[in-house]
Order: sequence, then structure tokens, then C-alpha cells
Amino acid sequence: MSNYHIKHLEEYFQVYRKSVRNPELFWSEIAEEHFLWRKKWDNVLDWDFSKPEVKWFDGAKLNITENCIDRHLYVRGDKTAILFEPNNPEEAAEHITYNQLHERVCKFANVLKTKGVKKGDRVCIYLPMIPELAISVLACARIGAIHSVIFAGFSATALATRVNDCEAKMIITSDGSYRGSKTIDLKGIVDEAVEQCPGVESVLVAKRINTDVKMKSGRDEWLQPLLDKADANCIPEVMDAEDPLFILYTSGSTGKPKGMMHTTGGYMVYTAFTFKNVFQYREDDIYWCTADIGWITGHSYIVYGPLANGATTVMFEGVPSYPDYGRFWDIVQKHKITQFYTAPTAIRALAKENLDYVTKYDLSSLKVLGTVGEPINEEAWHWYNDHVGQKDCPIVDTWWQTETGGILISPIPFATPTKPTYATLPMPGIQPTLMDESGNEIIGNQVEGRLCIKFPWPSIARTIWGDHNRYRDTYFSAFKNKYFTGDGALRDEVGYYRITGRVDDVIIVSGHNLGTAPIEDAINEHPAVAESAIVGFPHDIKGNALYGFVILKETGESRDRDNLSKEVNQQITERIGPIAKLDKIQFVPGLPKTRSGKIMRRILRKIASNDTSDLGDISTLLNPEIVEEIIDELAFVTPVKK
Ligand code: PRX
Repeated sequence: MSNYHIKHLEEYFQVYRKSVRNPELFWSEIAEEHFLWRKKWDNVLDWDFSKPEVKWFDGAKLNITENCIDRHLYVRGDKTAILFEPNNPEEAAEHITYNQLHERVCKFANVLKTKGVKKGDRVCIYLPMIPELAISVLACARIGAIHSVIFAGFSATALATRVNDCEAKMIITSDGSYRGSKTIDLKGIVDEAVEQCPGVESVLVAKRINTDVKMKSGRDEWLQPLLDKADANCIPEVMDAEDPLFILYTSGSTGKPKGMMHTTGGYMVYTAFTFKNVFQYREDDIYWCTADIGWITGHSYIVYGPLANGATTVMFEGVPSYPDYGRFWDIVQKHKITQFYTAPTAIRALAKENLDYVTKYDLSSLKVLGTVGEPINEEAWHWYNDHVGQKDCPIVDTWWQTETGGILISPIPFATPTKPTYATLPMPGIQPTLMDESGNEIIGNQVEGRLCIKFPWPSIARTIWGDHNRYRDTYFSAFKNKYFTGDGALRDEVGYYRITGRVDDVIIVSGHNLGTAPIEDAINEHPAVAESAIVGFPHDIKGNALYGFVILKETGESRDRDNLSKEVNQQITERIGPIAKLDKIQFVPGLPKTRSGKIMRRILRKIASNDTSDLGDISTLLNPEIVEEIIDELAFVTPVKK
């Protein structure tokens, strides 16, 4: 029996039992057999959730790019590592072999060095889904610089906040990006951001859309001429297993974004192991994850997990609707994709369109389908299963988080029987539990509670960059000695888990995590706004959409509401990005508050969902009469005009 590749249900249970009985033995065997270490660890695991502190493979030395690239060169140097599919289907796809990837990463790494980037420095990457994105990530890892990829849909302000938080000295970007029929001026956004980032010394610019951009002398440089001059070999920096690999920002329910810090050894082992099993990856497969590398899914399951297994991983620059809604299936047919991994929001959007967009393509290469990012509803699950998988591909509903680094709960295809909307069983090494509100573990099946994890796994984030107290308070204080996920879940009669959604003030819109507080802060900056509260409400395609309750200042009362609504969304776009725009805005005279001044979001959520029949006990509110007033106006609320 191999611990590394699980093929049957019985094998899963055996491996799982072993992983729980003796986690150190389990993970050390996998780490030793399947990876390249410059020096072995002194200790497999040290942990204490009360501090919290977690160390895996402490004392070991390695470089993750040696594991993701160099060690494959002898066996599969001419195999495609990255298959780049451009936005425009007329533009040829690019096959980057492991040999070529090695050369391009080494050259890029040498460019970073000549620009003064050293081990431990932070480099922010603000790029579209072009090969330079994966290559720059790997180049940072090659020299031990800590990459922080910032999704290229974020605004200048959001970019600047993140760059400043991690004190990056360099930003890597491009002249612009293609998105369907549109182009986006990325360099302009970076220029605006850098105005607010005194620590940024240099900006490297890749050419993608060949447009004229302003280059600030002494700060900005075109990437290509530097690469042309760079040496094609770069000796990898030898890193400690616990050295930081990257920082990736995620929204919290309050305050500024949290820079989740992941380290090298454990992250590598866990993402590679889960990639192999969750996707049942085999040597000649062509694996495609549609996520953006700006999110954790792209880090773990486009770049590190697949490359550590020597896989061919597809990077897609475009969107599912361009040039039409058949694009995903066109790509599946063209590249004979074997594993396809996407988000429920994309499935729902495509399921709305004519079925011909799917049926006209040959999807017979597909073996495994995956979803991630939010709960998948039953209808979307069946559409995916019937029309894309043609009832012949297991669907892996993978539950995990930016903080977890890798997939924690998911079926293993061909082993775990799937059940629509259920993420099913924990991965080896993962010990989930459900907790009640008074902090007791809920034992047995057919129960519901707050999802926690009892024991560390190798890819758990080690801290929030620069704020370890916040890390402890957010994840380890709600339940003693447990990692609290912020999600609710139920466990069915056979022990399968179904994730029911967030139990905090994070709202998942189209698979993106959005904290309510930063959006409210952005709205409140509008000169006519006194106060606001955001809640989610069900949306056919996005899963949730945002509903804003906004109190105007006296000076704003006479303003045109349609215009104000547009301005509010403009304000959000500038502060955060278009993904956080509100679908509906209701201008209200007040917000329901508890006697201690806390907004009762539970009531607002019900109102926004048009479910006002049972609002529960509102008598304890400071201002119960406001609820009626808000409900009376509900019929007049229309979607915000574009
Ligand atoms: O609420 C869960 C939801 O997405 C949250 C994590 O978001 P993020 O850090 O952006 O990472 C997304 C990609 C890993 C979780 O707390 N979520 C993620 N996957 C699922 C899910 N909810 C239900 N089912 C899933 N498969």
C-alpha cells in the first residue's frame, strides 16, 4: 500500500487511520519518499495551538523550485509543464516544457537578484494570467524572496494597502491585461498605487498588450530586456522548511486584509499530496484549474501542487464567456483536458446558457471534475455531473481556505462515493470536528455545528504577516486548542461533511471572500453617507450578492438616489475593486441595533433576502420600530444601475 497515492475506499480508511494514529510517521514517510531535501528535518512536528505555533519538518533544508522543476529535468525535461491558453482563441497556445520553465525561472530569478532582491525580501506580483505570473512566483521562491501575489482585479488603493502591509520593495506587473473583449490598464493602476507606497524601489513591467505606458525613470523597467541579458542558470537558495514561502491576503470580517503567511516544506508536501489524490493525477494527464493565481487555489493547484508532481498544468488568461459561453469546453476539447477544476459560480453562469455550448464539444477526455470556493447547490452539481461529466466523472467538492493552504475535505475520486453538495470526508491527516456555541464538541452523526480542526496539518498558515495576535484571536481563541474555520457544517449519517457557509461577517460572492467591514468603510467615506451595513442575499449565479443598507447625512437627503447608488459603487470600485460592488442599495433612516450598539445583521440578512415572515425576537433592540420602516420600503428597492 502506498501512503502517497490512494486508489480505493478501503485504502483511504487505512491511510486515514494511520495518519491520525501517528501523524508524524505518516507525514515523514511521505516527505522522505517523494521530495528532494538538502538536509533532513530534526523534528517532524512541533505544535502548540495556544500560542499558536506550528512547525513541520523543522531543521530540514530544501528549495521548493528544485522539487517543482529541477528534479523533473532528467525524467521529463521535454514534457509540457505549463500550457498557456491565451484570452484570444486565435492566438496560439504556448507549451512551456520543464526545460524551458527551468531556464525562464532561472533568468527571472537572476533579474530579481540584479535588482537587489534578497532572501526574505517581499515582492508583490500584480499580473494577469500570463506565464510571467507563474514564472515570477517561482523565481521568487528560487532565491528565497517572499512573493505576495495580488489579484489583478484589485484597485490601486487595495493594491497599495497590501504592498505597504508586507513592505514590498518591488512590484512586478504588465503594461496591461486582456479580459474577454476588454483591455485593462494595469500599469496605470500600479502607478497610482505606488504613489502611496514609499517602500517600493522598483517596478518590473512585462509586455502583454503592447500599449504605451508611462515608465518612471529610475523606478520602472521593462522586463524583457533584463531577461535577455540574464544568465540561464540560478543556483537555488537553500531554505529552511519553516522559512516563509509566500504571503497571500484574504479578507477578514473586520479590519485590514490578513496577510496569511505560508512556509516552505510543509506547504510543498501537503499541496503535492492532495493534488495527487484529489485529482488522481497520472503522468500523461492534462490538468486544468480555472482559478487565478491571485487566489490560493491558483498558488496550490495551478503552480505548486501540480509542478511538484511533474504535471502539465494549464493557465488560462481569459474568461468563460469569451468569445462565447463555449470557451471552457472548447479548451477541454482542444487540449484534451483530463481534470477540470472550477468554481460553482462559473458552473451556474454556464448552466444558464444554451446547452449547445457544451454538447457541441467532445469532452470525453475528462476523468475528474472539481469545484471549490463556496457551497455548490444541488442543481449546479447535477448540471455539471450530467452535461460536463456525462455522468462518468466523479465530482470532487473540495473544501478548504487560504489559511489551510491545501484541500482539507474532499472525496477521493473512484474511492469515495460522492454525494451532491457534500465535501464528504477529511483528507489523511485532517481531524475535523463540529463545535456547539458553548464550546463543546458535538459527537456523533447527523449533527450540525461550527467546523474546527483539532490537529495541525503541514500546510496550515503559520501567522498573519506582522500580526500574530490577530492570527491567534481570529483562528484559535473561539475554541480552546482548535483551529476555527469560520464555517458552519453538518455531518450526515455516514460521517460526510457538508459545508453550510460562513458563520461570521465574511460573505462569499462569486467565490470571492469579502469582509463586510472594509466595504462599509469604503461606503462611509462617501461625503453624503453617515453609516452603512452590508449583508449577503441569495443570487442565482454569484451564490451571494451584496445588499447595502445606507443611512445618509442630512446633506445627502436631497440627492438623487440613483446617482448616489452609482457613486457608492464607484467608491467601492476605487477602494477595493469591482468584485465588491453592491447589487442593491436601500437608503434607510436607521439600522436595527442592539442596546450595546451592535448592528443586528441577522435581521438585515432576512430583510435583504425578502424573508420577513419570522424575524425572531426584536424586542431587545434599541430601535425596534426601524425594522418595520425598512420593510415598508423594501418593495421600492431596485438593482443598482450600471
Ligand atoms: O466558506 C468556505 C468557502 O470559502 C472559504 C474560503 O475562502 P478562500 O480563503 O477565499 O479560499 C477559497 C478557495 C480555497 C471557506 O471558509 N469554501 C471553499 N470551498 C468550499 C467552500 N464552501 C463550501 N464548499 C466548498 N467546497
